[in-house]
Amino acid sequence: MQAVANAIAERISLISESSTMKVAADATKLRADGVDVVDFGAGEPDFPTPDNIKQAAVRALEQNFTKYTPVGGTAELKKAVCERHQKDFGTAYQPSECLITVGAKHVIFNLTQALVNPGDEVIIPVPYWVTYKDVVNFAGGKCVFVDTDEKEGFVLTASALEPHLTSRTKLVIINSPCNPSGALIDRAEFEKIFALTQSRGIYLLTDECYCQFLYAIASLPGAKDTVLVAGSLSKTYAMTGWRIGFGLCPAPIINAMGKLQSHSTSNPTSIAQKAAVEALRGPQESVGIMLAEYRRRRDFVVQRLRAIPGVTCAEPRGAFYVYPNVSVALGKNGINDTLVFADRLLKEAHVALVPGEAFGTDRHVRISYAASMKDLERGLERIHQFIVANS
Ligand SMILES: Cc1ncc(COP(=O)(O)O)c(C=O)c1O
Repeated sequence: MQAVANAIAERISLISESSTMKVAADATKLRADGVDVVDFGAGEPDFPTPDNIKQAAVRALEQNFTKYTPVGGTAELKKAVCERHQKDFGTAYQPSECLITVGAKHVIFNLTQALVNPGDEVIIPVPYWVTYKDVVNFAGGKCVFVDTDEKEGFVLTASALEPHLTSRTKLVIINSPCNPSGALIDRAEFEKIFALTQSRGIYLLTDECYCQFLYAIASLPGAKDTVLVAGSLSKTYAMTGWRIGFGLCPAPIINAMGKLQSHSTSNPTSIAQKAAVEALRGPQESVGIMLAEYRRRRDFVVQRLRAIPGVTCAEPRGAFYVYPNVSVALGKNGINDTLVFADRLLKEAHVALVPGEAFGTDRHVRISYAASMKDLERGLERIHQFIVANS
């Protein structure tokens, strides 16, 4: 057994297992034992994929669209991505500046491996989505974490960013709306961040996975040279399992990522690509319906969390997560950090959520409100009782 462990390549030690996956696994195990677990851990819509999208996949199957496609996606899908981005955000990308990938996670992996040299610094605002630091580490880069302020709603500002930029900074990663905090960088601040990075020749990777994105920095004049977009159909169209994402970047970067992709996954699934074309070109009503429902749930969850004595909760402005501060229940009854908090909450109150340690902070937990109102009501009542009993 030891010999096998020694055989694992050193580079694998540069990455850690996703802690969000661990919570899901623990919750599944409890559920399999018959326990009624309320799951706020999942980072995915609880809606089904809209029917018009599913039907497009059925048609693709019937028409035997089941062979390899070009590595970086079909011409049809690249065009559909560029057109949708132009319609929604006023950008002007060509298909040569687009790569179709196996979800946005794959774009972010390809991009970091294609751009970051050993020793390059990559700025990651805290709290961050778990994968950023691991893919930067895997590329041999150095993560430079920049704290944001809970009182300011966890929003990254240009003035907080500036002192961290050095001659080694290659890339700044921003995620607005943010997973886990729901923070949204407003347009004026976004422009300042862009001006700052552009003036220093630093790339800005903007992870646009959450559809409440109201504007795109890539629409600013000159932005296409240094702004790198990671987009996804997973959340916008409730298509997490289909695994379709896209990158919009200068053509040489697209080509470098395509080279890497040609030796790893090759093309994303042919049938899913056909479904993605329908998602992007077909009726968009389902997006608005899901958004309205998320907003309703957000309002309920924030108000409910703020009713728990001692809990503070910044209001999320996008995505479907809240990131309350649960300090009031830390340091008592053996609950010394949010890892123990999440573990004990799951075992004793049967609610699954993700500890803030996964996202780089130690006083918060992430609750996904992509769950039914019934589950939100009973899950939050359990959290309330658990915190009161432990504070
Ligand atoms: C901020 C962020 N970026 C990227 C992704 C990856 O999405 P995809 O399913 O497209 O790989 C997620 C998924 O949770 C996310 O939260």
